[in-house]
Amino acid sequence: MIGVFDSGSGGLTILEALHEAMPTQDFLYLGDHANAPYGHRSNQQIVTMTKAGVETLFEAGCDLVILACNTAAAIALRSLQQDWLPNAYPGKRILGVLVPMVEALTGVPWSQEHPNRQQRGDRSILLFATRKTVDSGSYLEEVEKRAPHVRLSQKACPGLVDAIEGGAGKAPISGLIGGFVGEVLKEAPTPDAAFLGCTHFPLVKDYFRAALPPTTELLSQPDIVAASLREYLDRHPSYRKEGTGRVRLLTTGRPEDVTMANAYLPEKLRHFEDHNTV
Ligand code: DGL
Repeated sequence: MIGVFDSGSGGLTILEALHEAMPTQDFLYLGDHANAPYGHRSNQQIVTMTKAGVETLFEAGCDLVILACNTAAAIALRSLQQDWLPNAYPGKRILGVLVPMVEALTGVPWSQEHPNRQQRGDRSILLFATRKTVDSGSYLEEVEKRAPHVRLSQKACPGLVDAIEGGAGKAPISGLIGGFVGEVLKEAPTPDAAFLGCTHFPLVKDYFRAALPPTTELLSQPDIVAASLREYLDRHPSYRKEGTGRVRLLTTGRPEDVTMANAYLPEKLRHFEDHNTV
């Protein structure tokens, strides 16, 4: 089975797309609800918590773990891949959501760290994410290297993850989103596209859609990540574990609290088990 890790429930938006794209693959999801949100935490805490989550999924039998959380991918992925994985779990793999997103935004493969000179014409793209992801500058830096013609305007959305995890209602959520979109549009008034670089945000994507100009394309990170994983498994078939399409959800928090709090989730993705049951 393939592991999927997130700070909380947000990664379920990625899991849903993975499951849809690869219906015979088994998935094990771990939400670190006991420690969410990661957006307020120090880099060291994010690395430690992400490592613990990935280790739980490896020990449960996953050979490949997707860090669905943009914040964890931006802050922890490189150091876990370089400094921990080769010695601790040789042969196992961790992939993040940042790489497929940057490839999709730039049209340049990750391994190519210089611009494709054939690309012409400015493109303005908005990124909505946690403060931590925005401050890491990871998306900005990686896009700039490969596609200087893409102008990426970042907007941190403090409080939105807490509101979603807390099951806040329509009015406060759409109010928050309307404010964030309004502010970034002052800086980039005619964006060609926008994407939600926090896995929680697609749960409330309709409010983003409603607040953005109708001509702005809203890119789907879950679909982009799913397409990229499918290609990865074609290239690395040993990580493909055909099964029956079973999906299990684990949480470091209290399953009953998590389930109740996730009003924005589809019914089929609301049933968490305690992660000690692995
Ligand atoms: N869902 C996570 C992300 O994709 C962040 C949520 C959090 O702050 O824990 O960035």
